[in-house]
Amino acid sequence: MKKLVSMLMVFTLLFSFTACGNNNNAGESEKLQDSASQTEQQTTVSEQEPDSSAETSLAESNPVETETKSLVAYFSCTGNTKAVAERIAELTGADLYEIVPAEPYTDEDLNYNNNDCRANREMNDSSARPAIGSDSIDISVYDTVYIGYPIWWGTMPRIINTFLDTYDLSNKTVMPFCTSGSSGISKSVSDMKAEEPDADIRDGLRASGSSDSGINEWLSNNGLM
Ligand SMILES: Cc1cc2nc3c(=O)[nH]c(=O)nc-3n(C[C@H](O)[C@H](O)[C@H](O)COP(=O)(O)O)c2cc1C
Repeated sequence: MKKLVSMLMVFTLLFSFTACGNNNNAGESEKLQDSASQTEQQTTVSEQEPDSSAETSLAESNPVETETKSLVAYFSCTGNTKAVAERIAELTGADLYEIVPAEPYTDEDLNYNNNDCRANREMNDSSARPAIGSDSIDISVYDTVYIGYPIWWGTMPRIINTFLDTYDLSNKTVMPFCTSGSSGISKSVSDMKAEEPDADIRDGLRASGSSDSGINEWLSNNGLM
């Protein structure tokens, strides 16, 4: 009888452990399911709505490039306009580009006392477009383009028309400047406006030497300094 009772007790104990064990498994599998569904939810949320704080910190560490770029393009045969161009580039931090004629002008070409000199022949022909020999540039990266030239017969030399025909200046700020014996710049600016109706062509500067005062005033009047 004692043997039977102790066997019964052992059997009862074994049964209750097994039941407990099963319950624990059920609890754990519920927990796993819960956490799996949470992970799934989190994945779905993060796929649908990227963390806005992460976006903000990315934008802060990679600010959008807003710096404007300027170019000083110039043509000069005897160095006067070149000196002014270099000074403007120094003052503004602009890139410098020399418009070099494919066929250089000799002294005889520039001898305007001779009616048949090359410069005079070009200026007498409004369709003349002397070729540019310097490497071409990507003008699209510039917001402001300074264009410098000597005055020839009251206006810009025809090679400047070649430059205007070659490059698209639409929606750019254009700052014409010149050197001359005595003539002003206004005729060349109105000629340029007729050629570039979509550019924002500002009042020009006739520079005497590379004197900073005139250049500084012109730049600050145009909000460029
Ligand atoms: C063909 C030719 C025509 C010129 N026509 C004029 C003119 O109409 N008015 C003027 O004031 N200077 C005139 N000049 C003088 C130049 O504009 C002046 O010397 C200028 O500063 C030269 O610039 P650069 O050294 O950059 O070539 C002329 C010069 C040349 C060669």
